[in-house]
Amino acid sequence: MLKGIDVQYLKHFFTFAKKYKRSILLGITMLPLSVITSLLFPWLIIQVIDVHLSQRNIDGLLLHTVYLLLVLIASYVVDTTYSYNLRKAGQYTITDMRSVLVDRVLKLPRRYFDNTPIGVTLSRLTSDLETIGETFIQSIVGLVKDTINTIALLVMMLLIDWQLTLIVLVIMPPVMYLTFYVRNRLRALYQVTRSTLARSIGFLQEVLLGVKTIQLYRAEEEVEDRYKGYTDELLKAQKKVNKYDAILFAFISGVISITIALMIWYGSRQVIQEALTLGVLIAFINTLEKVFVPIRDFTSQIASIQSSFAAFDHIEELFVEATEEEGRELQPTHKVEKQLTNFVSLEFKNVSFRYNDNLPYVLKNVSFLLEKGHQIALVGSTGSGKSTILRLISKTYQDYDGSILLNGIEFSQISIEDSTHLFSMMMQDVHLFEESVHFNIALGKKEIQREQVEQASRYVYADKFIDELPNGYDFCLDKNASNLSVGQTQLISFARSIAQSGQVMMLDEATSSIDSITEDLIQKAMQRLFKEKTVIAIAHRLSTVRHSDMILVLEQGEIVERGKHQELVAHNGIYAGLLNKSILQAPELKVAEN
Ligand SMILES: Nc1ncnc2c1ncn2[C@@H]1O[C@H](COP(=O)(O)OP(=O)(O)OP(=O)(O)O)[C@@H](O)[C@H]1O
Ligand SMILES: [Mg+2]
Repeated sequence: MLKGIDVQYLKHFFTFAKKYKRSILLGITMLPLSVITSLLFPWLIIQVIDVHLSQRNIDGLLLHTVYLLLVLIASYVVDTTYSYNLRKAGQYTITDMRSVLVDRVLKLPRRYFDNTPIGVTLSRLTSDLETIGETFIQSIVGLVKDTINTIALLVMMLLIDWQLTLIVLVIMPPVMYLTFYVRNRLRALYQVTRSTLARSIGFLQEVLLGVKTIQLYRAEEEVEDRYKGYTDELLKAQKKVNKYDAILFAFISGVISITIALMIWYGSRQVIQEALTLGVLIAFINTLEKVFVPIRDFTSQIASIQSSFAAFDHIEELFVEATEEEGRELQPTHKVEKQLTNFVSLEFKNVSFRYNDNLPYVLKNVSFLLEKGHQIALVGSTGSGKSTILRLISKTYQDYDGSILLNGIEFSQISIEDSTHLFSMMMQDVHLFEESVHFNIALGKKEIQREQVEQASRYVYADKFIDELPNGYDFCLDKNASNLSVGQTQLISFARSIAQSGQVMMLDEATSSIDSITEDLIQKAMQRLFKEKTVIAIAHRLSTVRHSDMILVLEQGEIVERGKHQELVAHNGIYAGLLNKSILQAPELKVAEN
């Protein structure tokens, strides 16, 4: 049943479970006790009936009834201690695993998130872990416990009366075969229900995220129909599961009844012929359930171990998925720390890049040099690779060809921690959290105080509108910042990048049209930045581009023109074409041309 890979999962699991070995050991210590109590019970019944009842020994009867009661209580205590401790160890282990995994997931490269739907990661961190936590240890130990118990009971029965036991032994193999058969069918069905459920959750998640669009375009019915498709499929599988489960349950109960009937029929004749005592017969009947019920549970334990392994399979992918810097030769922090306290230069030397090995290159032999105090503007039509350049600088993606040198050090040999403090980024797609304005600007960093937040806001001219909000900087944003205008969200994201106080500003100017007042503010802020800071910006506004030391014109991943605004206009090439096609938004275009 166990494959090599399963053993590896077990090892992995137990490196986490090690910490809770006291609970696990306590649970396991209960095993022999549990076997002893379940053996003692029939033995005591025989004593009560055959020895004390038949001899009418009231004292002995009373004493043994008390013993029976004690054994019963002991077995409850043993069972409770057993399942409490194993469950506890399982839950603690899973909690530890979850926090390690969340930590890892947050460090996974963007490539992973590009290729994996969020729903999948979510279900790995929740339902898959839950599956393991709830049953894994218990099922494994339970399997051992039931096996030992059943064998011990059968041996005891054989020793007491082998002929009666023969009835059980004859009936057992077909029962086992049938239960395994039904369980196998059930397992396949469980897989169907699990994957259907996962897909329907994924669908729902997408629907809920896009609910505004759905309502806007009155697409509710289509969504309902598609969702109904999922629920129907799920229901069908669940109905089958129910059927097989019920059949199995009824079958085992039936078999127990039939075996009891057979025993009574055969046993009572033996009793009459005095070949068997009444106590033994009653003890056997009492024990029957203890032999057959584990067979039923046995298979369900195997099923839950198997589903745990399936869940392990999913989770292991998260462990195996390399974080971006694993396996790289990084310069140790203490060596580069001094060299990276101040920004000196960033140089791209023949950098080529593609998002995936089987995708075409989106940057081809890109070379440029950004020095302290200089401004570079990247322009080009949509999809030409502008944002990609910034993504390489922010280390969102790392596997580039060619060379990127930060202060002369190869970029891929510097860890993210050592380089990010030099850069502040304002992204094209702003994500604002459902938190206060302050939180969104400081990004929850405690070291960024209110003073600094206000300063940053003033710097980008966002202070005025923030002051007018009901609670100022404590004004809470709605989901997706729906209680702010598009221009205001951009101002906040602008302030955010200033508050992060990197020495190099990376700006991916948004193209969305905004009201003219905010537009003015943003332009003023941009011009201020371009005068005072080292900037590399993707610009859609002529006003921004005009003030840069160097304009790089990108076309399908290649730099096709470079120079200052006037030079490029004079060159009358692609840049001039962009101006004419108003790809560069330029209300003052005419002014520029005059
Ligand atoms: N995560 C990704 N996976 C695969 N391909 C991508 C990914 N992101 C971008 N691309 C592709 O890379 C190319 C360059 O994209 P990039 O985002 O750099 O363009 P851009 O110049 O910033 O465009 P825009 O002006 O529209 O923002 C495009 O062809 C795009 O389809
Ligand atoms: Mg872009």
